[in-house]
Amino acid sequence: MATRPEIPVLSLFPPGARVNRKGHLVLGGCDTEALAEEFGTPLYVFDERGLRDRCAEFKKEFGRRYADVTVLYAAKAFTPRAMLALVKEEGLGLDVVSGGELGIARSVDFPMNMVSFPGNNKSAEELKMALEYGIGHIVVDNFHELNLLRGMAGRKKASILLRLSPGIDAHTHKYNTTGTVDSKFGFTRSTWEEALTTARGEPNLKVDGLHFHIGSGIFETEPYRKSIEVVLEFAAAMKKKHGFVTKVLSVGGGYGVPYTLEAEPPPVSAWAELITGELTGQCRRLGLSLPGLIIEPGRAIVARAGVALYRVGAIKDIPGIRRYVSVDGGMGDNIRHAMYGARHEAVLANRARAEATDLVTISGKYCESGDILITDIKLPPVEAGDLLAVADCGAYCVPMQSNYNASFRPAIIFVRDGKARLVRRRETLEDLTRCDLI
Ligand SMILES: Cc1ncc(COP(=O)(O)O)c(C=O)c1O
Repeated sequence: MATRPEIPVLSLFPPGARVNRKGHLVLGGCDTEALAEEFGTPLYVFDERGLRDRCAEFKKEFGRRYADVTVLYAAKAFTPRAMLALVKEEGLGLDVVSGGELGIARSVDFPMNMVSFPGNNKSAEELKMALEYGIGHIVVDNFHELNLLRGMAGRKKASILLRLSPGIDAHTHKYNTTGTVDSKFGFTRSTWEEALTTARGEPNLKVDGLHFHIGSGIFETEPYRKSIEVVLEFAAAMKKKHGFVTKVLSVGGGYGVPYTLEAEPPPVSAWAELITGELTGQCRRLGLSLPGLIIEPGRAIVARAGVALYRVGAIKDIPGIRRYVSVDGGMGDNIRHAMYGARHEAVLANRARAEATDLVTISGKYCESGDILITDIKLPPVEAGDLLAVADCGAYCVPMQSNYNASFRPAIIFVRDGKARLVRRRETLEDLTRCDLI
């Protein structure tokens, strides 16, 4: 059983996070003050063991309940080459959504038969690239893509899945929901059969199965249950009418993680129990043979492993209203609060045991009033020079970073067993002007 950390909020930090005798937060055996000194701030710190353990947990929990499971890590959540190399070592496949992500996968010799490519507007160039590389599945999203693929695939048949929009609300943030009727992703229900018969009529396409992904940051199991039911009923109807066999079913990603102490998403074992149980039960009911199961977790693998470190600068008190504590990063390295109103928790990494007595708002250094990292958090009295560690920054922070205000994207390090490894250096002025022509 996991032991409870001495400071409750540490349960949102990577497993093994602790506070040392100096009162400093320790990640992967490394003192965060020392890391900030060595690598500068803002700094993205990833606990390598935390990343590997989550990969293994998904494989184990699904694998022990279902014979044919492929876990694809959704690369969009955190895409650096070091991460994709780690995923390869852990024996997971990859879910990519652009030629760029596919190219990065190739650059680390990722096995291409383990790569799947969804996305609602893939270009002809991206599709050609996918075919040339011989990836596992292109996940066809719409009729435009079917048209592009027509005649493109050459003598070797392209293996595809059809992305279906099951019309089911996953009750997550509206920017993160994808499976409802009003979504840009996937074939609308009324066109599922036409999509299938059109794709099957293409001599150079091999329709291996069906795909859905209903959103991100999901806490409820029922939307997955319903989606599996709806999609398998379609599969059964298509088997009866057209003799189509669904060899593969992808249920996508979306498994939620706690960003606050109150949040309690299902553990991986519960997702595995629900999904494999529902799949097995529905297939039995509908007389279908069991398809190979694909899952595509992104956030659930990387969120908790990543911590952002910032140095505190200006502090502005507006008596009776708010105390702004500005740090040396912000929306340029983590846009989640500005974009979705996302919540993060944090500790003062250099005085982690000090009592949290003051209510403050953590603001960034960017020229936008909306550049807020955390609204209303209780921290010990904060001073300029303090080090702030923000939890759960592993997913969808780094890949959405920008150079707004000509800022440099931060360095990223992996920590493990007391050692730190630089996996992406901080950008420089040269990086900012590299693509400009005068
Ligand atoms: C098709 C597909 N699969 C998987 C994912 C990963 O989702 P998450 O990071 O929430 O697990 C996404 C994210 O949007 C997606 O679009």
